[in-house]
Amino acid sequence: MKRFLLLFSMIFSGLLFSQTQLNLIPYPQKVEFQKGEFIIPENFKLDQNLPINETEYLKKRLNFLKFNYSRKEENPDLTYLVFPPNDLKKLKKSERYNLTVSSDGITIQSASDQGYFLALQTLIQLFKQYKDSGKIPAMKIEDEPKFAWRGMHLDVCRHFFTVEEVKQYIDYLAMYKLNTFHWHLTDDQGWRIEIKKYPKLTQIGSKRKESMIGAYVDNTFDGKPYGPYFYTQEQIKEVVKYAAERHITVVPEIEMPGHALAALSAYPELACTKGPFESATKWGVFDDVFCPKEETFTFLQNVLDEVIKLFPSQYIHIGGDECPKTRWKECAHCQELIKKNNLKDEHGLQSYFIHRIEKYVNSKGRKIIGWDEILEGGLAPNAAVMSWTGIKGGTEAAKSGHFAVMTPGSYCYFDHYQGDPQTEPNAFGGFTPLEKVYSYNPIPSELNAEQSKYILGVQANLWTEYILDFKQVQYMIFPRLFALSEVGWGTSNPENYKEFENRVVEHFKILDKMNINYAKSIYNISGKVIPSKNGVSYELSTSQNPNGIKYAIDGSEPKSNSATYQNPIPVSQSMTIKSAYFENGVLKSAISSQDFKTSKTTGKSITLEHQPSENYSFGGAFTLVDGIIGNVKQLGKTWLGFQGKDVVATIDLGEKTQFSEVYFNTLDNKGSWIHFAKSATISISDDGKNFKTIKEIGKNEILKAKGKINLKVGNQSAKFIKIKIGNAGIIPAGNPGADSKAWLFVDEIGAQ
Ligand code: ACM
Ligand code: ZN
Repeated sequence: MKRFLLLFSMIFSGLLFSQTQLNLIPYPQKVEFQKGEFIIPENFKLDQNLPINETEYLKKRLNFLKFNYSRKEENPDLTYLVFPPNDLKKLKKSERYNLTVSSDGITIQSASDQGYFLALQTLIQLFKQYKDSGKIPAMKIEDEPKFAWRGMHLDVCRHFFTVEEVKQYIDYLAMYKLNTFHWHLTDDQGWRIEIKKYPKLTQIGSKRKESMIGAYVDNTFDGKPYGPYFYTQEQIKEVVKYAAERHITVVPEIEMPGHALAALSAYPELACTKGPFESATKWGVFDDVFCPKEETFTFLQNVLDEVIKLFPSQYIHIGGDECPKTRWKECAHCQELIKKNNLKDEHGLQSYFIHRIEKYVNSKGRKIIGWDEILEGGLAPNAAVMSWTGIKGGTEAAKSGHFAVMTPGSYCYFDHYQGDPQTEPNAFGGFTPLEKVYSYNPIPSELNAEQSKYILGVQANLWTEYILDFKQVQYMIFPRLFALSEVGWGTSNPENYKEFENRVVEHFKILDKMNINYAKSIYNISGKVIPSKNGVSYELSTSQNPNGIKYAIDGSEPKSNSATYQNPIPVSQSMTIKSAYFENGVLKSAISSQDFKTSKTTGKSITLEHQPSENYSFGGAFTLVDGIIGNVKQLGKTWLGFQGKDVVATIDLGEKTQFSEVYFNTLDNKGSWIHFAKSATISISDDGKNFKTIKEIGKNEILKAKGKINLKVGNQSAKFIKIKIGNAGIIPAGNPGADSKAWLFVDEIGAQ
């Protein structure tokens, strides 16, 4: 019954929306349009009941209006914004507010300053939308969020952002009614918070020798020292105060027991082995972590003492993720501790670690929250879980009566690509476009109503390995923050995505005025290679008006008067297809560019003896004959990945065909367990059954060619080509992932 009512009210407000386009994000729970309109006065004033903080805020944000500050009774003829006192018993929930626009004025009601503040965000958006027309339609808004935790995270360790930038970030959260800022302050690549008792943390740990640049697989470094970069305790206080004025809670994260290299570079005695250690210069997960000895607990407790004094948040985030057990397995102290405490294994030790820290944090009147892995070996009694590897951690936590914040990577990691990687700046990987974020429901479907109460809310994370400056931060969060905002508010409706997108486009104008950089990926053209009669064709699509797609095949950039896309473009030879989206003659999207290298195999029928691994199976076997040479930025798109398996591909050329060269590429990135092929064998056949080997190469030839294989095979004529590309097998000792199965990546198999 309740469900039905909810549905009804959503349809109802949707109907109203179509009559009056209301560009609010997040969309309120309930909007009723009424007769009349409020004429925006040239001068209007604020009632004295509005808290100073909110008044100042409003003044700044509505700087296109002139404000007069005076008491109502002194100026009875001015139009007023009316803020009734906080005596509204029925608005008990602290974030609830009512906002009424009528011809007499605008009234805001809330039982709390926080509610006022949220109402002001709505009001500001209304003014932005209607200031040009000079009048706001009369309406009554009754509003409150569904989720108590509506968060954004920022990693300041991989790349550092100044106090001013952090404040801007907090402003963005406030504008869109998010209320939690998760500040990721310590990691392998840098320690960013001043701790008075341990000055070396920032003297040594806030620096690194150099940084990785470009795609991870390139394994390239810039050679430039980074840091010292950190926040003094005074700066931290300033940020916490700034956030509090915007009703945003700052949750600090101090990582333990893993992601600790920067701390260990300053205090190596806290590790299992002697060190010395250095802040990490590359991204990833590292074996050297905190050793659970008394000295370490004393250190962490002292650090937490200072952290707790600086941050009034109920929750302190203690990390807990990605802690390899390699060192603990070989450490006499760790093994002794496992025995002494009757722990099952090193996972039990991780649990022991977190439990002890939790006890300490609880003794200070605070609670811990940690990433999924704090579930390892048993969850600490009062701990909340931040569910990132999927929704399992959060689901499990809620089922056992623990609070959870949902931030699953595939919906909530804003370091992922939001458009075709070919048109996007370098990013972590993954693909999390706006629509995907918008489709997220933070309540896992297997939870019942009672368990669902433990889902505190939702958060998006911004890890900054590939985010070098603040403009890039803006680009990665906008417009996805809009989707998160509405998901957290509880008014998102994935079936109405298109309607949401219309509002997003209106909010782009606000971002433009504020000089905020944002991704225009929603306009970008998607390309898909499809087999066609004589090879392949390139199919273009957009979520916008399809007539807006313009393209060029001569290497030039498309213009508003270039060819309009109608049907898949035949790829008859090696060529570059560039496309873009235009609206009323104005370029809206990035230029998409796709290179094709055609050969005798392009678009031909291909079969694989072993299928690629699911995450790297993109277009299936066809990917190997689609005419696209692999790009390392697009591991999951232009390459196929095989873990522990050979590539055994048979290509049917359709008829006897002459060729004298066969080519393919294979990758090497040992840090990601990717190894060059160890061999390749080419054979041919006319009946697809009896094959004759025409070429064989081994590891040395592949190493010498750096994986870019182009084999002269003499003049051949055959209907079938079979190629076997040998996986490196088990990763040898001394390499990351030793004893595990190696990955083999292959992009395109061509013949000419
Ligand atoms: C995480 O992304 N390692 C929490
Ligand atoms: Zn140890």
